[in-house]
Amino acid sequence: MKQQPKYIQIIEEIKRRIKAGDYPIGSRLPSERMLAEQFKVNRSTIIRSYEELTAIGVLERRVGSGTYVSENYNLLFEGQTNWYQTLTNHPISTQSSYQDRITKYRKKAMDLYTGELSSQLIPNFNFPSFDWAEIADRKQDSSGLVDLKEAVCKHLKRQNIAVNPDEVLITSGARQALFLILQVLLSPGDAVATESPSFLYRLSLFQSAGIKTIQIPLDIQRKKIDIHALEKAFQNNKIKFLILNPNFHNPTGITLTSENRQELIQICANYQIPIIEDDVFQLFNFTGQKILPLKSLDSLNVIYLGSLSKVLGSNINIGWCIAPPFMVKKLAEARELMDFSLNIFPQIIATQAFNSAEFKEKINQTNQILKQRHTELLHIIKKYPNWQPTSIDGGLYQWLTYSHDLSMNEFEYFIEERLLIAPSFIFSQQYNAIRINFSKLNDISEFEKRFGAINQRLE
Ligand SMILES: Cc1ncc(COP(=O)(O)O)c(C=O)c1O
Repeated sequence: MKQQPKYIQIIEEIKRRIKAGDYPIGSRLPSERMLAEQFKVNRSTIIRSYEELTAIGVLERRVGSGTYVSENYNLLFEGQTNWYQTLTNHPISTQSSYQDRITKYRKKAMDLYTGELSSQLIPNFNFPSFDWAEIADRKQDSSGLVDLKEAVCKHLKRQNIAVNPDEVLITSGARQALFLILQVLLSPGDAVATESPSFLYRLSLFQSAGIKTIQIPLDIQRKKIDIHALEKAFQNNKIKFLILNPNFHNPTGITLTSENRQELIQICANYQIPIIEDDVFQLFNFTGQKILPLKSLDSLNVIYLGSLSKVLGSNINIGWCIAPPFMVKKLAEARELMDFSLNIFPQIIATQAFNSAEFKEKINQTNQILKQRHTELLHIIKKYPNWQPTSIDGGLYQWLTYSHDLSMNEFEYFIEERLLIAPSFIFSQQYNAIRINFSKLNDISEFEKRFGAINQRLE
């Protein structure tokens, strides 16, 4: 009988060792050189076996750190469909192994990685008392609870955005609004432009629907989107929308300057490209400086997205999309077709919060604490001149750029010292920065200790 090629024999042997527990799930495999000596083959044969095993999800390569038995793959399922393999080539599953490990250590570490407001800072509004008959009678149409749409209009008026309830679509968070826009207004092959870095890079929402995302560089020092790059992108691609998070940007924390806003509004008008303004951090304005949303500057060319999920927690998951009435209708119809009906309870809770006499005061209290935590953070960062902070006016995030690119090994220090941050490579192709969610900095001296230990190792 013809013998199998050597690299296949080695693949089978590695699988056997994993099954037998010699190489446990998650463990690091011997180096290519060591294994080549063991099997008395060339290193290139081992590389080939490792590559094949990585491609089918058995192994995982970590840049600068070695080859590991994948935590997601269970050899006990061999002989049945390898569902993991059906997922690996799909862009929706682009979570890196770094993020997998963060998820694993989250409970035992200082978590400044996750994006939401610390639950300690969520304002405590009185809970509405429910009357069953009243709930059954509450007026709701496909675009949301009527009372909530009115409350959103009142809220937006304070941001200089004048809208009527028929321009409001209540959504389960801003993410649902983005998803509906994608379903209704975009087709495979279209392109959208967005800032780089951007939180959208993480979502893979557009990528998985076959929509190209063109990255427009942000000048984080000058708090500007690169207008020349934007114009070039408009000239060279079939761009349908410009999606921006201009206020307290995720992940850099910056707010675009008013000149930059005027410039980009002008250029979008010239090329007739609508803007989708994602303004989910709008309430976290802790310097009190008035910031005018793009929507207030150009009401006709901007679709505006807001959310209460950041301030009330992601379990409430209520957002809104402001668009022309016919578009609101289309988006609501699309949602109905997909059977993503809106639950009435989070809408009632959100209405209660908005209409509370204490709404403004409670948000102010949260912002005071955010400001204090941010000041404490900056105080520590100043001691480490290799880290350059962006200048921010609100939001939840501080972006720190390091003096040079960090290797994966160096990013690993954060996990090892149990100080979890969001690395820049999940928001762009950059390897030189981190995002810190300072709302979660409730133990600043512990942060100082861990950050100090990491910096000692980085030197
Ligand atoms: C910029 C930005 N837009 C949208 C979202 C999603 O918001 P929601 O939780 O309301 O879906 C997030 C969540 O982190 C975000 O950072």
